[in-house]
Amino acid sequence: MRIDIISLFPEFVSQIAGHGVVGRAQERALLSLHGWNPRDYAEGNYRRVDDRPFGGGPGMVMMIDPLRDCLAAVRLADPAPAKAIYLSPQGRPLTQAKVRELAAEPRFILLCGRYEGVDERLLAAEVDEEISIGDYVLSGGELAAAVVVDAVARLQDGALNDAESAAQDSFEADGLLDCPHYTRPVEHELGDVPEVLMSGNHAQIARWRRQQALGRTWLRRPDLLDEAGLSKADRELLEAFKAENPG
Ligand code: ADE
Repeated sequence: MRIDIISLFPEFVSQIAGHGVVGRAQERALLSLHGWNPRDYAEGNYRRVDDRPFGGGPGMVMMIDPLRDCLAAVRLADPAPAKAIYLSPQGRPLTQAKVRELAAEPRFILLCGRYEGVDERLLAAEVDEEISIGDYVLSGGELAAAVVVDAVARLQDGALNDAESAAQDSFEADGLLDCPHYTRPVEHELGDVPEVLMSGNHAQIARWRRQQALGRTWLRRPDLLDEAGLSKADRELLEAFKAENPG
């Protein structure tokens, strides 16, 4: 998959994306990232990319033409059609379902705004969707773009070493939070590893993990349970969890 990132700091995103799973996905040619700077498409000695907002107010607004020319160059660089996605707090919230959808695309473009935003006319004409990574304001879209790149990269076939682990993630299987995980030592002053995990009984372990996932979701994100479509067995596991862990 190919992701093009348009940003005044394109190296910022590629640096974040150079490590761990995303770095490996690039080494394995599962992902190619390309950074583009709208300043390279700006005119004049100052290569100006922003200007003051009409109507007054603080901050600067990114101008139409450098972004538009940059986008045109991005599109020309590869014949595959690509959605343009603008990262902004006004966008739709990023969910794992959206990540899966993007991960299946051959290519997309991430547009990072800076300052107070981007001229609305450019967004209306060139952007296919807006995505927010949460209800808070970042000083630019770069960190949000890095979040999208990471979440999408790890879903590429062959990006994770243990093919199982993405399927078991929070949200991935069925929109529930993940169960807790433990490793050595078995006994520690901070507590012991739950016995069931050492039982070797895979059915019991799977049942315990499912119950923990249900219980945690109930405790921490009860809103997700409404969407999860629990089976009768799930509801029984959850009732047993509630009885043992009164909220
Ligand atoms: N740019 C600034 N804040 C953002 C957010 N919360 N999500 C995506 N892009 C942003």
